Amino acid sequence: MAELDISELGPQADGIHRSAQDPVYIDRALPGEKVRADVQRGSGGVLRGELREIVTPSPDRIAAPCIHYDVCGGCSIQHASEAFYRDWKTGVVRAALAREDLSPETWLDPVFIPAATRRRATFVALKKNGRVTLGYFRRRSHQIAEITDCLIVDPAIMALRTQLSVALVPILQDGKQADIFVQVVEGRSEIVITGPMGGKGGMDLAMHEAFASLIRDAKVSRISWRTREREAPEVLLEAAPLLAPFNAITVTLPPLAFLQPTKVGERTLVDAVMAGIPQRGKFADLFSGCGTFTGAMLERGRVDAFDGNEAAVKALSKAGGQKALKAVQRDLFHDPLQADELSAYAAVVFDPPRAGALEQARVLANTEVPRVIAASCNPATFARDARILVEGGYRLETVKIVDQFLWSQHVELVAVFSR
Ligand SMILES: C[S@@+](CC[C@H](N)C(=O)[O-])C[C@H]1O[C@@H](n2cnc3c(N)ncnc32)[C@H](O)[C@@H]1O
Repeated sequence: MAELDISELGPQADGIHRSAQDPVYIDRALPGEKVRADVQRGSGGVLRGELREIVTPSPDRIAAPCIHYDVCGGCSIQHASEAFYRDWKTGVVRAALAREDLSPETWLDPVFIPAATRRRATFVALKKNGRVTLGYFRRRSHQIAEITDCLIVDPAIMALRTQLSVALVPILQDGKQADIFVQVVEGRSEIVITGPMGGKGGMDLAMHEAFASLIRDAKVSRISWRTREREAPEVLLEAAPLLAPFNAITVTLPPLAFLQPTKVGERTLVDAVMAGIPQRGKFADLFSGCGTFTGAMLERGRVDAFDGNEAAVKALSKAGGQKALKAVQRDLFHDPLQADELSAYAAVVFDPPRAGALEQARVLANTEVPRVIAASCNPATFARDARILVEGGYRLETVKIVDQFLWSQHVELVAVFSR
């Protein structure tokens, strides 16, 4: 066992011990602490320390509020004071920008979304000997920890989880794992099962009854299923459509639709994006999803929305009706909008996945689009894309940090650029 001084937090919120050799990453250690840990080389040759004892605790250390904290791999940093946590989260964004030699003209006040607001969760389920374990993966493990009380999610999701742990018994195959995605939207909920289900003969009576009980007793609006990730889910039962109101439009969501993880976070991001949008004009919403920003932008003019996901684009198209909206399916990594197309817009919004919008940023940097607004869930790829825009002559006016991923290493932001 080694005694290690922790100097900083790493990208996964684990403590880092620096020595003459490689850094050692120690889960749940805080800067300023001296800890005892068993050190081993993990995957990729990285040195990892298993925390055994905190010799000198940080003054910022607190008792983690969750009863599952010791086993659950879901939250990475519940053991730090709120002040430390907030400082660290904003520091992650500031450091990512500083690495690209960037700083906005104005840092807007950050927003920290509270617990019990997450409206989507993916549980892992395993049926063994007629009993279903339903929870999240354990820390750095593929074993499942039964989670009966998750502090970050909407309590409606945990209430549904209790009913699911019974209803899934006749549905799941013994010894086989499945993912159970739950999303609660405006008081209605959907379930998407990914993995093997049922016996050899397909759906039997007991399964039918279990699904029906979820719809009837647990008031689930829709249940869908797919055998593996990347497949489109098949709707098995639908009692009512899942409707998402996005300002000027209401979208009937397809199964597994991307939504911002919290409603309050969605409102915060929409307000931050709209602060960068002119009062009237024609706009583009790139990586639009089902239209979180499109709906608000439509209140100020015409909007062309682009996304790679066919189901999302179809749903948005339908919601647009006769309104001033055109929704287009397009792969913006391989086929970004070109300068001649972009010249039509008074403002362009882009909100890519974690990989960022490298190709689109390269084209945007060489246009005269007056305002560009970026939403991002990855400060590193955002900073890379922002550098490209700034080198193309854009000013980075504002950055607003929105922490929608409480107690994790993830953080979101909205940035406004202008020419
Ligand atoms: C972070 S989500 C944002 C969605 C939307 N702006 C919202 O707030 O609800 C990222 C979106 O990028 C889309 N996407 C992922 N890869 C893409 C690609 N190569 N081309 C176009 N869209 C893509 C996804 O379908 C998803 O809707």
